[in-house]
Amino acid sequence: MIFEQIATGGCQSYLLACQDTQAAVLIDPELSRIDLYRGLCAKHGVSIKYVIDTHTHADHFSASKELGKALGAPVVMHRLAPAPYADLRLDDGDMLIAGGLRLKALHTPGHTRDSMSLVMDDRVFTGDTLLIGGTGRTDLPTGDPHELYDSLFEGLLRLPPEMLVFPAHDYKGRSHSTIGAEIEGNPRLQKTDRAEFVAMMQALDLAAPTHLTEALRTNMSGGKTVAQLLSEAAAKVPFMSMAELNERLGGNRRDLVILDLREKDAFEAGHVPGARHLPRGQLELRVNSELPDPTVRILTYCEFGKISTLAAATLRELGYGRAVALDGGMTAWREAEFPLER
Ligand SMILES: [Fe+2]
Repeated sequence: MIFEQIATGGCQSYLLACQDTQAAVLIDPELSRIDLYRGLCAKHGVSIKYVIDTHTHADHFSASKELGKALGAPVVMHRLAPAPYADLRLDDGDMLIAGGLRLKALHTPGHTRDSMSLVMDDRVFTGDTLLIGGTGRTDLPTGDPHELYDSLFEGLLRLPPEMLVFPAHDYKGRSHSTIGAEIEGNPRLQKTDRAEFVAMMQALDLAAPTHLTEALRTNMSGGKTVAQLLSEAAAKVPFMSMAELNERLGGNRRDLVILDLREKDAFEAGHVPGARHLPRGQLELRVNSELPDPTVRILTYCEFGKISTLAAATLRELGYGRAVALDGGMTAWREAEFPLER
């Protein structure tokens, strides 16, 4: 079997492939590593048959929807997963077959209601149900310490002690453990009494993961992250450097319409010399009267260079084929001490 463990910060993804059939499955992919997963598939000459999420992640952005679409592979999740883009929904005990690979799903709720673990001959992918020296938290949406107790003590910990444990997270650079080692040494599993275990889990006072709301929003809905939206817009437009714009100031104004997309106060406090004011919120409403010539070259800018990127992409979509965005924004422009007009 081909086996790759890919760590992204504390997140662990797994690529498994059958050498005889070149069939692969990818478990818990992360959005920022799509090119790496594809590169690994190319390197091994394998193709992904299933993209699996062990649960609805609250701490990172799942790549499942994007990868599933790009590869034509079904996205696999537990039956209770809220994600509308899950193509294949598993029940407890269901088995996936990809070439010679066989993965059996165990429903192991507790960290989330839709958590599942995937069991193979010698190893189990435990998601966030069982971690090395820890367990998943139960205080995020759909978490339940009672269910986690059952998933561990009535489920995962009854697997053979020599079985390898590959979790969805490890923050200390460890790759795997075994069921036996966890029963022996995992501090949380020493609370074998249900009430004590639940009390311990409820007493954990953990900080919310970064990007919690955005991760839940995108992973539950299949919507885009803000960074994705911006990078898709950025891919559709060219940029102009601040130095280049500065050199072109004072030239033939009809060659370049400079649009300041910020609010009125910001514009009046200081703008690029010669810039016209058209707030982003009014762009589509006023574009026909303000920019009657679609062949004109337009440069958009804002305070930080993000809204201007979205606006330039919108202008290109509307037919202004020469719209460009400033590489930077007014904050950077002022810091670089380029000229201002009031
Ligand atoms: Fe998680």
